[in-house]
Amino acid sequence: MSPAPPEPASGTPSPPDVLDLVVIPGDGIGPELVDSALQVLERVAALDGFTYELTTVDAGAGAYRSAGRALPEDALERLRAADGVLKGPVGLPEVRHPDGTEAGLLGGLLRLGLDTFANVRPMRLLPGVTGATRHGPGEIDYVVVRENTEGLYLSRGAGAATPHAAADQLMVTRVGTERVVRYAFDLARKRSGAAADGVRRVTCVDKSNVLRSYALFRRVFDEVAEAYPDVETEHLYADAAAHDLVARPQCFDVLVMENFLGDVLSDLGAATVGGLGMCGSLNVGADAAYAEPVHGSAPDIAGQGLANPLSQILSLALLLDHASRPSAGDRVRRAVESALSGGGIELSDRGRPVRGTGSVTAAVCEALST
Ligand code: IPM
Ligand code: MN
Repeated sequence: MSPAPPEPASGTPSPPDVLDLVVIPGDGIGPELVDSALQVLERVAALDGFTYELTTVDAGAGAYRSAGRALPEDALERLRAADGVLKGPVGLPEVRHPDGTEAGLLGGLLRLGLDTFANVRPMRLLPGVTGATRHGPGEIDYVVVRENTEGLYLSRGAGAATPHAAADQLMVTRVGTERVVRYAFDLARKRSGAAADGVRRVTCVDKSNVLRSYALFRRVFDEVAEAYPDVETEHLYADAAAHDLVARPQCFDVLVMENFLGDVLSDLGAATVGGLGMCGSLNVGADAAYAEPVHGSAPDIAGQGLANPLSQILSLALLLDHASRPSAGDRVRRAVESALSGGGIELSDRGRPVRGTGSVTAAVCEALST
């Protein structure tokens, strides 16, 4: 009998020998962005010394059009079994359900189906990038943790409507709030604090002055916070948070909020760090995770090599962190930064790569090796 393998050190999951990754190329600019991220993956895996296997799952608007469903029947099980999923943007405006809603979107199917309760959206203003405010690189570096399975979007497809009136409900639960708030505090412990003062801080964003659901969110936040005396807490109403994310973004470290607020405020944050093309994200739950750009599939520029692949490449970095390869995630982030500051990547005022998608991919791959 061969000896039992050594136990991994407690608290540090040992990375799998071969990473089992699933790829969803998506619609519009999705396939070209994912292709770019896979080139970066190939390079970083060689440098970081790991191997991986890729499985492609076709899902989204194209899949709905050809197979009659946006997500194949057994897909959730396959995605759950993987070490991580890299997803491109999905959706095509002309592919719709009979009720007029878009048929190719996967947010509801994947976030609820995989129970990925936290949507992690880092906002970092990188060197060589012009944001919409007067801040410089390094001054904006915070993470929006968006609750991802309840809140206003639990009403997706379930609201009550007549031709003259419509209503959607905003659901906040104790269990759902506890787990996402805990995630935010644990994340703050791993970071080095806000850019302005280096203080580890979690900001609770809500409208508890107006709505009961948000009052519960805040109460649960305060209860969870008691277990993290080493992390500073802050409360902001969502309107004030929108103001402060523009006026004093350097003071934020981690922010946690309900689904709809997180959707809106993360786009606001994106504008301050050079646009949605700079923003990757990770949807994470207890037994599944998938990384995706924060933006949509931009079918108007698809297939022309015009899109900025950094959102997808930075999503890959988040996925590598999650899949027990944080050194590889760091390598990717450092390569993006050095390609930007060294002039290898040039972005237009609209955040598009001046020399095209392929030039950005090449610059990141080049920076990885140097
Ligand atoms: C996002 C997107 C999705 C959302 C849309 C496409 C359904 O805007 O991930 O932020 O609202 O969650
Ligand atoms: Mn959004």
